[in-house]
Amino acid sequence: MWKRIQRSCIHMSAVCLKKTPLHLKGKSTADKRWLIRQLSDPFVKAAHEQNYRCRSAFKLIEMDDKYRLLKPGFTVIDCGAAPGAWSQVAVQRVNSTGESVDLPKGSVIGIDILHIFPLDGAQFLTNHDITSPSTHTALERLLPEAGADVILSDMAPNASGFRELDHERLVSMCLSMLDLADKVLRPGGSLICKYWDGGLAHMLQQRLFSAFQDVRTVKPRASRKESAELFFLARMLKKR
Ligand SMILES: C[S@@+](CC[C@H](N)C(=O)[O-])C[C@H]1O[C@@H](n2cnc3c(N)ncnc32)[C@H](O)[C@@H]1O
Repeated sequence: MWKRIQRSCIHMSAVCLKKTPLHLKGKSTADKRWLIRQLSDPFVKAAHEQNYRCRSAFKLIEMDDKYRLLKPGFTVIDCGAAPGAWSQVAVQRVNSTGESVDLPKGSVIGIDILHIFPLDGAQFLTNHDITSPSTHTALERLLPEAGADVILSDMAPNASGFRELDHERLVSMCLSMLDLADKVLRPGGSLICKYWDGGLAHMLQQRLFSAFQDVRTVKPRASRKESAELFFLARMLKKR
């Protein structure tokens, strides 16, 4: 798949060069930069072709292709799920629509402070803040008794532009993911959480190590090189 995406990158660059003058007329410098980046991004094109709601789908696809966290029959919580691309991937991989009749049927629960358009195979808690205890209560009502198998978090606060402040806010969201894991993740379960690199990353990693047997840092190819974005992949939650 990555070869196909690279080929489409070369194709998109050529298309982009031809189209640039038309698309950029009357746009601000920031808008121009954003448009050029979108037009030349192979993951944007691939997301469009494969009907994913956004390019971030390929981050989860790459991590899951390598580490095989999402299995048919699993229960997945997708935190910060809007617009829903990670949930789309999770729905396919845990078979939550029951499309593959000979495989176990899983479930996907997505949560976001924003609205999320409905998706077949997923239940959404929209306009819910994951850090709020009332969201945890609503979530627990939807979960099976055994709890969730996987928690995904691609959550990010609105960027303030101050790198260290944004880093700290995202680390604090990751810590609330750990609290959530403690409540609802089954022993042996996994957590993927996004963070922005910075001074508190080591502390967060240590906290994850105290709860999970295996913790590693991953930077998928779809994550832009210039972005401080990284993911902790924590596997095998220890027994409480
Ligand atoms: C990068 S987007 C997620 C994209 C998503 N993974 C996808 O593939 O479609 C980050 C999301 O985190 C959500 N978010 C930020 N803070 C949140 C919070 N406290 N509770 C729930 N969602 C939150 C934002 O509203 C935003 O939709």
